[in-house]
Amino acid sequence: MAEELYIGLMSGTSMDGIDAVLVDFAGARPRTCATYHQPYPQALRSALLSVSHAAAPDLHQLAQLDIELGEHYAACVEMLLRTSERSTEEIRAVGSHGQTIRHHPHGAFPYTLQIGDPNVIAERTGIATVADFRRRDIAAGGQGAPLVPAFHAALFHRPGQVRTVLNLGGIANISILSATADADVSGFDTGPANVLLDGWAARHLDAAYDADGHWAAGGEVLPELLRHLLADDYFRLPPPKSTGRELFNLPWLERHLSGTEPARDVQATLLELTAQSVAAAIRSYAAECNQIIVCGGGVRNGALMRRLVALLQPAQVGSSAEYGIDPQWVEATAFAWLARQTLEHKPGNLPSVTGARRPVILGGIYPGIL
Ligand SMILES: Nc1ncnc2c1ncn2[C@@H]1O[C@H](COP(=O)(O)OP(=O)(O)O)[C@@H](O)[C@H]1O
Ligand SMILES: [Mg+2]
Repeated sequence: MAEELYIGLMSGTSMDGIDAVLVDFAGARPRTCATYHQPYPQALRSALLSVSHAAAPDLHQLAQLDIELGEHYAACVEMLLRTSERSTEEIRAVGSHGQTIRHHPHGAFPYTLQIGDPNVIAERTGIATVADFRRRDIAAGGQGAPLVPAFHAALFHRPGQVRTVLNLGGIANISILSATADADVSGFDTGPANVLLDGWAARHLDAAYDADGHWAAGGEVLPELLRHLLADDYFRLPPPKSTGRELFNLPWLERHLSGTEPARDVQATLLELTAQSVAAAIRSYAAECNQIIVCGGGVRNGALMRRLVALLQPAQVGSSAEYGIDPQWVEATAFAWLARQTLEHKPGNLPSVTGARRPVILGGIYPGIL
């Protein structure tokens, strides 16, 4: 069978780096041919965090970061080609999500902003690059997010079973796949997954994250604090809804702290916040669901996974690895798949998820070098 090769590039709200995959879509299921993770160098991560949180970011710095990231993405593509011994001509397209700097899908002029210049990717690699996936959905009246549910449905839908795909990135999002023959999909961002856990760990452990949730697991959940955090309006808002670092950030947490709480207990409480907000969303919107397929970096947080298993029983909670795809590469594979949708003139958004007026073909195509 002829191969149908695409590359997917994903950088999520965790701002941990770039996940890159080379995938073959020729068969019934995507086949992962090569993977590469490029952590952001510390200075780049700090710069991205600072422009995304600044009330008035430096425009010159932002424009430069757009190009610098484009170079990093191009280098990831080159790395995949090298390790898989493929050539440029064999790849149909690169699908690049970019790094979200701001997500503000509300108000008179809703917007979402991803950087990582696709012109640079296409020019350096010679491969057609599809990028800027979210803004067309916003133009069609949607939230621009989440966009992965269509891919989750294509990959995991099974008639007769209600399944929920849970992605634990910086933010947590769910895709609820109905038991009907045609996947009827709903989904939304439930709130924070790792973003607060990472922020608090960075401050107190001098580490990018709390490995395996070990630090949190030795703390005590603070019930008062948890109650205040769970009282945020976002958790009660009906879907469609999407969120990011604009809402769930350390200042948001600090507004609820007296300053006397032991740091480890705060981490335990943040882990419980993620577990409970995810479980409540699944119980409210996917009551019939008996299989929860988990992907994203949060799968490696054993303490978080154990809480999800306990809160969601009797439903089965398992890593996407048990369903044939490594949890680290699901989202990057989704953007390879979305690039394919675009080249095939097929929609990538689901109005039932994003709230858009209609299904739309997502993204811009930046031609390769012929
Ligand atoms: N060993 C681990 N233990 C706990 N958490 C982890 C581990 N490895 C990764 N993570 C978490 O996963 C995050 C990265 O997940 P990812 O799916 O890439 O998120 P995003 O899509 O937001 O970039 C890290 O920031 C960290 O919070
Ligand atoms: Mg990531």
